[in-house]
Amino acid sequence: MVDLLQEFDEWGPEKVVCVSDARTGMRGVLVIDNTARGSGKGGTRMAPTVTVGEIARLARVMTWKWAAVDLFHGGAKAGIVADPDAPDKEAVVRSFARRLADQIPASYVAGLDMGMTEHDAAIIQDELADRGAAVGVPEALGGVPYDQLGVTGHGVAEAALAALERAGKPVAGARVAVQGFGAVGAATIARLHAAGAQLVALSTVDGAVHDPTGLDVPAWLAARAEFGDACVAKAAPAQRIAPGEELCVDCDVLIPAARQDVIGEQVAAQVRASLLVEGANLPTTPGARAALSARGVEVVPDFIANAGGAIAAGFAMDARYSAFRPEPGRILDEVAARTRRNTLLVLETAARSGVLPHAAASEMAEQRVREAMRLRGRVPVPA
Ligand SMILES: NC(=O)c1ccc[n+]([C@@H]2O[C@H](COP(=O)([O-])OP(=O)(O)OC[C@H]3O[C@@H](n4cnc5c(N)ncnc54)[C@H](O)[C@@H]3O)[C@@H](O)[C@H]2O)c1
Repeated sequence: MVDLLQEFDEWGPEKVVCVSDARTGMRGVLVIDNTARGSGKGGTRMAPTVTVGEIARLARVMTWKWAAVDLFHGGAKAGIVADPDAPDKEAVVRSFARRLADQIPASYVAGLDMGMTEHDAAIIQDELADRGAAVGVPEALGGVPYDQLGVTGHGVAEAALAALERAGKPVAGARVAVQGFGAVGAATIARLHAAGAQLVALSTVDGAVHDPTGLDVPAWLAARAEFGDACVAKAAPAQRIAPGEELCVDCDVLIPAARQDVIGEQVAAQVRASLLVEGANLPTTPGARAALSARGVEVVPDFIANAGGAIAAGFAMDARYSAFRPEPGRILDEVAARTRRNTLLVLETAARSGVLPHAAASEMAEQRVREAMRLRGRVPVPA
């Protein structure tokens, strides 16, 4: 096993705090990666498989995501090793918050990620008797309902629209395939439909559907609201395709919005879209990205396309002690503006310098963090 201390580099992490509680069996970790541009902010994940290394990697992604959207927070993430469906979840969440009371909210504000719900965020606020202890609380407590507003999908769709417009391709009638029909996938589909695009394929963990003449988006959104992921099972047999085939159908825009590593080199060779917008985190492998680029497929990187949640979290951070709710229209406008601007910047830089969009995006984020570290004197003492 590699010792985490061997993994530290010039960016961070600055702080790793591990906690446990014998009574509930809670084990958790907080990683503050880099605060050169502002206090560490990132969601809190709960899963039986959480590791310190995983949370450290996710905290680093947050460092780059905040810098890429040019908002002033740093990277952080927390994790709790526990089953989110266990009946003692509340006790575990409370003991996690209590053990980290010297860090929350002074150096970390809890938030949502896999396995954590708005109710859990409210429990953290309650346990620490501080409205500032967590964001992602229910709307009834003044929170920003990110997934209900569809902030991340809204941004993913705007990234797709900006890239299509840049390529001089018409949005009206552009054929789109989306993997994943959750918070991100559904909001992406709704926004692209409103803009005039045509949805030709979608999928959930329960199956995939395809119709080259276009799926009925309002009907599918209604079916999702009623049946959840199982909605695909209600499709006409002629529309059903094998799981994973939605990534390879004939279309203009492909949007993986479900899981990581779904597009490796083999799948990349079969992608027929000319534009791929990463809604999910890490859906393409580095080899796939090189293969896609070689075939002329333009890729909008994950931390450029799906930063809408981070932008909304920026608003939620400001609203923690306010009597006023953040205005949803303002959040969506800001998500659209920043995501479009970044998409164009990254695609143009990549085209000009002959590098992949991921490399252009990483370089932009790293430059911003490096400059903040330099200005704060956080550079090695000269020998
Ligand atoms: N929610 C956010 O604000 C946000 C922000 C940034 C990134 N992301 C990333 O976007 C992705 C989706 O997040 P979400 O919030 O929509 O999750 P979600 O749980 O709401 O939805 C996930 C969807 O993907 C489907 N899915 C899972 N495995 C699949 C498979 N093998 N094939 C097809 N579909 C499959 C599920 O059935 C579901 O429809 C994740 O990678 C997440 O990390 C989410």
